[in-house]
Amino acid sequence: MEETLLPPKRILVSGGAGFIGSHTCVELLREGYEVAVVDNLSNSAMSIIHAVGAVAGAEPIFHHCDLLDRVELSRLFCEFAPDVVIHFAGLKSVVESTERPLDYFDVNVYGTINVLRAMADCGCSLMIFSSSATVYGEPVYIPCDEGHPTDPANPYGVSKLLAEKVIAEWALSNDANSAIIFRYFNPVGAHVSGKLGEDPTGPANNLMPVILDIVSGKREVLEIYGNDYNTVDGTGVRDFIHVMDLARAHVLGIEHLSEVQDSEIFNLGTGQPTSVMQLVSAFEEVSGQKVNVKFVGRRLGDVGEVWTSNASAKKILGFETRFSLHDMCAHAYQWIKRNASTSNK
Ligand code: UFG
Repeated sequence: MEETLLPPKRILVSGGAGFIGSHTCVELLREGYEVAVVDNLSNSAMSIIHAVGAVAGAEPIFHHCDLLDRVELSRLFCEFAPDVVIHFAGLKSVVESTERPLDYFDVNVYGTINVLRAMADCGCSLMIFSSSATVYGEPVYIPCDEGHPTDPANPYGVSKLLAEKVIAEWALSNDANSAIIFRYFNPVGAHVSGKLGEDPTGPANNLMPVILDIVSGKREVLEIYGNDYNTVDGTGVRDFIHVMDLARAHVLGIEHLSEVQDSEIFNLGTGQPTSVMQLVSAFEEVSGQKVNVKFVGRRLGDVGEVWTSNASAKKILGFETRFSLHDMCAHAYQWIKRNASTSNK
C-alpha cells in the first residue's frame, strides 16, 4: 500500500532573523505554518523576531544557536521535529569573502553539512536552500537560466556552489531526501507594512542599504563601483527583486517539495535588468531625495551584468512577481523613514 504523506506543517528556518529569512517567516506564519527560527544574530537582532510577530500576528519560536555548534543544532532540530528546513543562515558579503575566505567555507559549507546532519538526526528529509546568483560568475550569456555554467568570481560564490553540491549529493543518496535550491538575484525593498526591512549590523555594502544610509544621513555619497562596464550606461546591471516576492517563493517551494525527486534549482529574479544608475534614479523619483554619487574604480569580485530568466520558477512553481522597481524603492524608503533612528542598532 502506498504511504500517504501529510502536507508539511512545521518549518524550521535557519537564519530566520535575517533580511530574506524574516520576510519569509511572515509569509509562513500567515499561511498557518508553525515556524521555529535558529539564528546566531550575527547580522540581525531579537527585535526583528518581534517585528515578524507584529506583522504576522504570531511570533516564531526562536533559538539562539550557531550553525557550527553541531550538537546544539541537532538537539534543537530534534526538539522541534520539522517537516521542512529552510536554510538561509550564512555569510553573504562578496567583499568580506575575499578577505576571510575560510570563514565563508566554515559557515556556508560546513554549516550546511551540520544542518543536513541535524536533519538526519531528527528524521527530516525536505530542504529549501538559499543560494545565490553569484554562483554563475561572469555570464557567458544573458539572461542567465538554471542551465548556465557556474563559475563564481569570489569565495562567497564558491562557498554557495559547494553547499549546493553537498545538498545535491545528499538528496541523491536517499530516496526520501528532496531539496529545492533557490538562486536569488538581488533582493531589495522592505515589507509593505514598513515594520521589517534590511538592517545590517555592520557597515552596509550592498547597493540599497548604502542608499538608505545616505537618505538617513549616515553617509554623504554613494560610490559607484565602475562606470566603464559594457552596459546600458556603464554602471553594473543586476536583477533587483522585491524581498516579499522572494519570500512568497518559499511558500510555493514547500508546496512543490513533495514532487521533487532529488533536487531542483530555480533562479529567482524579475527577468528585468536594471543598472545601478537606473536604480538610483528610480529611488530619487520615488522618494524625492537626492542621492549624491561619485564614480570610483570597479569593486573586486563584481561582474558587469547579470540578470535572469525566471521562466522555470513561473512554469513549475507558479511564481509571479507582484512588485515593481518603484515598489522596491518606495518600500525601502518607507522602512528607513520609520526606522532611521533604530536601524543599524
Ligand atoms: N554598488 C555600488 N556601490 C555600492 C554598492 C554596490 O556601485 O556602494 C554596485 C555594485 O558594484 C553592483 C551593484 O551595485 O554593480 C549591486 O551590488 P550589491 O553589492 O548590492 O549586490 P551584488 O550584485 O554584489 O551581490 C548581491 C548579493 C549577493 C548575490 C548577488 C546576486 O549581495 O549575495 O547579488 O547577483 F549573490
